[in-house]
Amino acid sequence: MQITFKNNIKDLPKETLFISVGAKNQDEVIKEGGIKTLYLKCDEAEKMNLRKLYLLVRKMVLVAKGAKADKIALNFKDFKFSNIKLTDIELGEIIGSQLDFANYEFVEYKTPPKEGFCFIKEIFILNATKETEKAILKGNIIAGEVNKTRSLSNMPGGDMTPSILAQKAKVAMKGLPVKVTVLGEKEMEKQKMLAITSVGQGSDEESKFIIMEYNGGSKKEKPIVLVGKGVTFDTGGINLKPSNSLLGMNMDMSGGAAVIHTIALAAKMKLKKNIIGLIPSVENMASGKSYRPGDVIRSMSGQTIEVLNTDAEGRVILADALTYAQKYNPEVVIDVATLTGAAMVALGERASAIFTDDDDLAKKVEKVGEITGDYVWRLPMWEEYENEIKGSIGDFTNVHNKDSRYGGAIYGAIFLHQFIKGHKWVHIDMAPRMVAMAGENLALGATGSPVRLLYKFIEEYK
Ligand code: BES
Ligand code: MN
Ligand code: ZN
Repeated sequence: MQITFKNNIKDLPKETLFISVGAKNQDEVIKEGGIKTLYLKCDEAEKMNLRKLYLLVRKMVLVAKGAKADKIALNFKDFKFSNIKLTDIELGEIIGSQLDFANYEFVEYKTPPKEGFCFIKEIFILNATKETEKAILKGNIIAGEVNKTRSLSNMPGGDMTPSILAQKAKVAMKGLPVKVTVLGEKEMEKQKMLAITSVGQGSDEESKFIIMEYNGGSKKEKPIVLVGKGVTFDTGGINLKPSNSLLGMNMDMSGGAAVIHTIALAAKMKLKKNIIGLIPSVENMASGKSYRPGDVIRSMSGQTIEVLNTDAEGRVILADALTYAQKYNPEVVIDVATLTGAAMVALGERASAIFTDDDDLAKKVEKVGEITGDYVWRLPMWEEYENEIKGSIGDFTNVHNKDSRYGGAIYGAIFLHQFIKGHKWVHIDMAPRMVAMAGENLALGATGSPVRLLYKFIEEYK
């Protein structure tokens, strides 16, 4: 969408729909100065908060699309609520990103209607200063990468294999100073990354390990390493998922997609940071070649994994990726994964679960989560939980060995922790945010979370 800045309503094309806030009880349409104006119902200023502001900006886009308006105008001043403490630059970035975020729909597989798909083509913003104009345009670039993340996640499983994901990573970095290296199964075996190849062995699709390297910082600066789960389809394997749990499992590579486009975004914004992205990518299939319940895998770290459930595959492939991450002597490692349904049982669908034993790091992630709208909530990772992942014939079991459903998201994190010691590390279980909820004023399907959080985290990291 094109964003244009204007100072006066009179400069708008006549067919523009001007959207403002302030109607008392319901939305109202009034014609003012030849321009149709829609006043949206909105909470009183003192009841507004940042979370509602996000919804409001997105609602403006949705009502415009509902009215089939392809040119709309907004007044920057309408978004300035006295009790929302933001600088104009922060506000500009939020508005710029939320507009394009809400305008997105996944239409790649739809036949276009005669009149074309209904997207807003141009937005005029009134009363923006030079400074805020820049921030709005930056927000727009951020949303562009978030939306590309959504499109990768939304791709059907048949069109999104580990090889295709690796290809998409290369496409995303085209023209950017990011080196992309892709390891195949032979190369992974050579490097003893057998946790990844074991999970992928049931599929006809070759497993891949995608490495992205962006060096925007100085040579001596330690990198931030992002690790994303790249399961391109999760059938559960021999512990086959029930029918009603299979749909949507094409999106089990959403963490990987988020890592790809966070790095592309950081490179586009020329951040002066060193950032590494790692994506173990497999298809978790049930076949005569699949790994089995009870199998013991020797991971890259040398520690063995006793597979009690082939559906807890994400943590198995991430084990090797976290081991690999430590080769870079990282400043901090963040992994992002659609790891457990249990995270959704714990939190509902409004926030990702985060885990870390570093309180300072948790605070940093919570702060950027709140300001970007990629909400997170911390769950504990106390040592006591380690008792339940001790193996009987291997070192660690991939699910808790007591036959119980309790605390599944925590055991996922506790398992991962065995493969990353002595470095700052955060695990983001983004299963709750894999798809949008009704009422979020977003298209159904992938949310592109947590690209905005990761990007802000890196931008602000000191
Ligand atoms: N990819 C799933 C988790 C998931 C489920 C993400 C629903 C998004 C929506 C993961 O690989 C999985 O299957 N987890 C199991 C773990 C269990 C076997 C301990 C789960 O959550 O049931
Ligand atoms: Mn699974
Ligand atoms: Zn999975």
